[in-house]
Amino acid sequence: MRATKYIWFNGKLVPWKSAKIHVLSHSLHYGTGAFEGIRMYQTDKGPAIFHLKRHMERLIFSAKSLGMKLPYTLDELMQAAVETVRKNKLKSCYIRPIAFFGFGEVRVLPTNCPVEVAIAAWPWGAYLGDEPARITVVKTLRIHPQTLRVSAKVSGHYVNSMLAGREATDRGFTEALQLDYEGNIAEGPGENFFIVKGKIISTPKLGSILPGITRESVMTLARDLGYKVVERTLTVKDALSADECFFTGTAAEVTAIASIDNKKMKKANGPVTKQIREDFLKITRGENPKYKKWLTFVNPVRDRGRSK
Ligand SMILES: Cc1ncc(COP(=O)(O)O)c(C=O)c1O
Repeated sequence: MRATKYIWFNGKLVPWKSAKIHVLSHSLHYGTGAFEGIRMYQTDKGPAIFHLKRHMERLIFSAKSLGMKLPYTLDELMQAAVETVRKNKLKSCYIRPIAFFGFGEVRVLPTNCPVEVAIAAWPWGAYLGDEPARITVVKTLRIHPQTLRVSAKVSGHYVNSMLAGREATDRGFTEALQLDYEGNIAEGPGENFFIVKGKIISTPKLGSILPGITRESVMTLARDLGYKVVERTLTVKDALSADECFFTGTAAEVTAIASIDNKKMKKANGPVTKQIREDFLKITRGENPKYKKWLTFVNPVRDRGRSK
């Protein structure tokens, strides 16, 4: 990971090295941070952030799930992200906003802890590599929806993701597939999951998963391409008998799945995954006018087209 020059921290841009927190910050001890992962892509009109508004809305929602009131409005957070990538002169990157309880006092309820907000950005390539992923169904179940607010992106939830991911990579797989508390497929540690059978694309229904913004975008795109898209209960058996499977996520984008527990998919990187992946990437690069509304262009209008 390459450091950039500035991080937006509590309202102003500070040098990367100076964006520090107190060791007794509440969120460090209790996992009470709300965060986002966003990507910015190069387009022929300069850099554009993919679904900036949806991500910042989810950040506010995640913070609210922790009883955390952000000291910035949606517009201010969007503007801060734009300022961060502009000041760092980035053309394409990953953007990481995080809101957390800082140091006030050390106790489980963050009553006297200030809410702090930071936004960092840095260049970042493919998350799961360029090859179709070899995944494994792990023993670590996805969080029970009555244990934590699964639909929020909260730092503490990622202990579950980290353990699942480690279980998979320790056994030589690219990524984990997690089941929910009922034994049905939930999602990957940082990705939503889809199967393709004929012209029908299915994905686990909401309840035990993070409602991914890429998931939502891919469902819209797939429907527009003429596929039937269904949100339902999915079993491992459904996945193994599918034609194709793929993951979606801001980091993973659209990643084809080659095998589950070494059982090869009928088609690893099959035609539907390939079409969705290519069309999705075209959208992120601003090459499909129909979905331009999903992009926030970073450069002032007068400069667009000059920054490639
Ligand atoms: C657990 C989990 N599921 C799914 C996703 C995909 O969500 P999105 O497409 O909004 O990045 C992520 C990434 O944020 C995640 O961490």
